[in-house]
Amino acid sequence: MKRDLLTLADVSAGELLALLDRAAALKRDLAKGIDPSVGPLRGKSVGLIFHKPSTRTRISFEVGVYQLGGQAIYLTAADLQLGRGETVADTARVLSRYLHGIVIRTFDQDLVEDLARHAAFPVINGLTDLHHPCQALADLFTIRERKGTLQGVRMAYVGDGNNVAHSLLEGAALTGMHLTLACPPGYEPRPEVILRARERAKATGARLAVLEDPREAAKGADVLYTDVWTSMGQEAETEVRLRAFQGYQINSSLLRVAAPGAIVMHCLPAHRGEEIAAEVMDGPQSVVWDQAENRLHVQKAVLEWLVR
Ligand code: CP
Ligand code: NVA
Repeated sequence: MKRDLLTLADVSAGELLALLDRAAALKRDLAKGIDPSVGPLRGKSVGLIFHKPSTRTRISFEVGVYQLGGQAIYLTAADLQLGRGETVADTARVLSRYLHGIVIRTFDQDLVEDLARHAAFPVINGLTDLHHPCQALADLFTIRERKGTLQGVRMAYVGDGNNVAHSLLEGAALTGMHLTLACPPGYEPRPEVILRARERAKATGARLAVLEDPREAAKGADVLYTDVWTSMGQEAETEVRLRAFQGYQINSSLLRVAAPGAIVMHCLPAHRGEEIAAEVMDGPQSVVWDQAENRLHVQKAVLEWLVR
């Protein structure tokens, strides 16, 4: 049976920890040099369908597929008949005759689910309006690298209850990481995502909370995390969001209320002066570049696991 990675709810706690361990091994191996000709994806082709721009996801997947010995094919909306009315189901059936896997970045989570339902190959969600599982996996990997564990680590997420926040909620629930989100009213995570994450958190003891005050969330936190105030596809709301998110910035004043040695994370791309102050983003507690690098290692572990 093929498996997909559409949200982190698709992954068990054991599978997640195995992925992080494998990513650590792949990271060590890469430092020693790689030989794609003996990689597990040799002779295999992975399509990358992107309906939104991307720097990290696209490049890290393309490079990851190459390093594992496979071929990546990058496809925008303009490249496929999908944009001209061919159905998702028909596209999935046809691509199943050529490809061994798909990474897809698009707007609608339902489209990704539809693709996965009709495809013979694994579908990996490279970001939708609702989820960003590959990001959260790389984030968990980065936290474990820095803190040695995930269980009991306290993360404060400051800002929009968006796709990244949703996947972090699911990731925290699976690993026993405590997560408090501070969001302006009206910008909280979806209630059904919180409910589902809380249900899973019962097994790990993760405490998941949503409140309004960034300082209250950040107090004593081991990790401060933020993301853009306006996500891809929400550009028309930029002005309204700029006003709504005033005060939801990770800056040195907020960092002072966190635990000593707290790390600062951002999935990137960042807007210095909005959700994060330059002094923090470029300061000694920031791990954002490791986070971006770790996308590569973690996604290679995902590809190895799913694409066969
Ligand atoms: N963090 C992230 O997914 O970045 P890209 O939009 O550049 O892929
Ligand atoms: N929330 C952001 C994440 C970008 C990686 C967006 O969807 O644009």
